[in-house]
Amino acid sequence: MAAYDLILRNGTVATAADTMQCDVGIANGRITALAAHIEGTATTEIDATGKLVLPGGVDAHCHLDQPMPDGLRMADDFESGTRSAACGGTTTVIPFAAQQKGQSLMAAVEDYHTRAAGKALIDYAFHLIVSDPNETVLREELPELIRQGYTSFKIYMTYDDLKLNDREVLEVLALTRREGALTMIHAENSDCIAWLTEQLERAGHTAPRYHAQSRPPVVEREATHRAISMAELVDVPVLIVHVSGAEAIEQIRWARGRGLRVLAETCPQYLYLTEDDLGGAGYEGAKCVCSPPPRDAANQEVVWNALAEGLFTVFSSDHAPFRYDDPAGKKPGGKAVPFRHIPNGIPGIETRLPLLFSGGVNGGRISLNRFVALTATDPARCYGLYPRKGTIAIGADADIAIWDAQREVRISNAMLHHNVDYTPYEGITVRGWPVITISRGVVVARDGEPAPRKGHGQFLRCGTPEPVAAAGR
Ligand code: URP
Ligand code: ZN
Ligand code: ZN
Repeated sequence: MAAYDLILRNGTVATAADTMQCDVGIANGRITALAAHIEGTATTEIDATGKLVLPGGVDAHCHLDQPMPDGLRMADDFESGTRSAACGGTTTVIPFAAQQKGQSLMAAVEDYHTRAAGKALIDYAFHLIVSDPNETVLREELPELIRQGYTSFKIYMTYDDLKLNDREVLEVLALTRREGALTMIHAENSDCIAWLTEQLERAGHTAPRYHAQSRPPVVEREATHRAISMAELVDVPVLIVHVSGAEAIEQIRWARGRGLRVLAETCPQYLYLTEDDLGGAGYEGAKCVCSPPPRDAANQEVVWNALAEGLFTVFSSDHAPFRYDDPAGKKPGGKAVPFRHIPNGIPGIETRLPLLFSGGVNGGRISLNRFVALTATDPARCYGLYPRKGTIAIGADADIAIWDAQREVRISNAMLHHNVDYTPYEGITVRGWPVITISRGVVVARDGEPAPRKGHGQFLRCGTPEPVAAAGR
């Protein structure tokens, strides 16, 4: 009998810490050997000569089949979303079980499991979205769910159907401090956005491009500062999600300077898109409507620099898939609508890693090891999945992406595997592409095509997030 199910031979293996030439031996879905040359036989061998062998990506912020209001529908479910993720080199996703106001959080989690069951190609955990932190949720449901392995949750300071007031934010932060969980915060000032939106509408400015003007950097800066201040008050680590540019980054630097444990995430849209992509007078700009909105070239540069210097812990897609030409998507009811009614979010689960690899590693801005840290190791640490996920080490799950670092690919929607009818990155040429994706020792994508592995993905219970454990409370 063969000693290994799979051996990857002669590749260049990189982790967040090291780069080395070695073989990788895999048995029963786990990495069981790392050596310059592995003796012994395997059922299958893959020759990785000239290729990079990296931990599979952990996409720690994506929205799949999330229940939507008012006839809207997310374009990707757990099958199409994880298929697309796998083809882009990702082996773990963490989407959101979202509580509707008035709904039991337990019921939201149960419903989300039903949506995921038997569909995913790759492994998945859940964050929670807490939109109604009432007594039952705070006293009973959240503590119990944290014990069951749902140890991170997102809260919103904007969006009428999701936002919490400051008092509620404090209650949630106090709970995470007590129970050992991590809060992710969507930081934008809701009242400022509502006021600006009204002013713009009164002036007849309702085209998609005014979405960016309704949520300028100051709106994000103020909320980021407020979120940090509330976390300081409660004395608990927090993570600011989808940071878009210089002003929010300044607040995070300020917090770190005070010794506060404030973590941060950014996404490809803040490196590759600008507010110009929200369009001219026409409606096409709806394709790039997301929040916070993309900024300008100077802000992109600040985000790149912050990635290089280590300000960000997590690089996620914030894949929030809505079809463009669809009454359940960017054209609610089948028509162009004022920007306030355009569903927020853009697709990007498959292009996340190639975009960062191309501009970052091949662009000379970040090292290969930093790329691995941002896209796999640190998200796994941050959300209690490490060392099972996010690294190449003995005993870790054999979740691996084999990369051709020089392959040039012109991104087009036709080659992607999501269920969205566009990509915001159409026509961009990247260098570096994942050619084989392996989940627990099983090839789930090869040469840009998924293997028929629906249902291979398993649900993951998360441990205590490392930033929370490190805080020692
Ligand atoms: O515009 C965005 N980012 N939509 C997705 C939901 C969220 O706020 O992350
Ligand atoms: Zn958000
Ligand atoms: Zn999001």
